[in-house]
Amino acid sequence: MSWLYRNIARPFLFAQDSETVHNQTLGLLAQASHVTGARKLAQALFETAPLPVEAMGLRFPNPVGLAAGMDKQAVAVPMWEALGFGFSELGGVTGHAQPGNPQPRMFRHVPDGALVNRMGFNNGGAAALAERLAAWRTQGLWPSHPVGINLGKSKITPLDQAAAEYAQSFRTLWHLADFFVVNVSSPNTPNLRQLQDKTALDDILAAMQTVNAELSRGGPAKPVLVKVAPDLTFDALDEIVSLVGPRQLAGLVATNTTLARPEQQDHLAQRTYRQTGGLSGRPLAARSTEVVRHLYRQTRGTVPIIGVGGIFTAADAWEKVTAGASLVQVYSGLVYEGPGLVRELVEGLTERLGGGCWSDAVGSAAR
Ligand SMILES: Cc1cc2nc3c(=O)[nH]c(=O)nc-3n(C[C@H](O)[C@H](O)[C@H](O)COP(=O)(O)O)c2cc1C
Repeated sequence: MSWLYRNIARPFLFAQDSETVHNQTLGLLAQASHVTGARKLAQALFETAPLPVEAMGLRFPNPVGLAAGMDKQAVAVPMWEALGFGFSELGGVTGHAQPGNPQPRMFRHVPDGALVNRMGFNNGGAAALAERLAAWRTQGLWPSHPVGINLGKSKITPLDQAAAEYAQSFRTLWHLADFFVVNVSSPNTPNLRQLQDKTALDDILAAMQTVNAELSRGGPAKPVLVKVAPDLTFDALDEIVSLVGPRQLAGLVATNTTLARPEQQDHLAQRTYRQTGGLSGRPLAARSTEVVRHLYRQTRGTVPIIGVGGIFTAADAWEKVTAGASLVQVYSGLVYEGPGLVRELVEGLTERLGGGCWSDAVGSAAR
């Protein structure tokens, strides 16, 4: 399946602007989401054997998820399950609707399997997302896999009002998803990454956990995770780790895109890499694995980590798992390898596990 995508579909798709292809693909998936036959066909083509994982009080049919940013507006919610994903993270969504940065804002460097983007949280806002999610539910099209929402900050919101905005978006969406990811690590909103600073992050998490306590009314609270940047030092990561206990973090997502660029760059590579924005894909893989390993060690394996960054093959995914990730996600790999990647990853992980226990594999190369 991936061979067909790489050799037939991809050359045609990559002849066009990245964001245009992205929008067209999402448009098709959105339409297909409403057609039973199309969903069934995708299911038949991309069905994955189960590889169940329990984490954050949730049951994942397999550990391979859709990373944030692919379906920012939740337009194709049923299709992610039909394509074999074990979970999906929708958004990033901000409190206010906003257009994001001017186009063009997404670039490929194909020889490296890399993307650079500076989307800037283009999205319709939390209220619109809530409406769309509620509609999927009333139509009976809600997936049976866990669904998360990635929360960001609007460009117009000053940093000192960020906690209130995250808490308000969380309140608006609380009933509609299984887990929430606090995204303070996107490089494309001015100063957003300052919110990774311990005091600022603590304020956000405190405000969110107040909402969590209020809305759960003594029942189960929603798992809240923090997504970190690969450009943080280990000391800065440790500051975030120090909030895990006090703010009841259910997990960590490592990592977002990087501001760093590969050292080796030919003329063609420079055209992409000199673009402002966050780099994802193969060049990010090693650093994001390093961050996963560090977080796993610092938390002594007690906190679920979602490993994301440059996963293109089952070997890449296994590296994240043995470094300490309980779950993995893909974005750039999906762009470069196509939808068959999900099954390839699940099959490859199952093979490497060899009948062993998932929790024994997690972090086995980091202990
Ligand atoms: C175009 C694009 C948009 C993204 N938007 C978001 C976002 O809204 N929120 C977020 O936390 N991460 C976002 N990401 C980061 C991805 O979720 C992921 O962390 C990163 O791309 C590394 O994974 P990859 O190498 O598999 O792409 C985005 C990535 C890309 C390429």
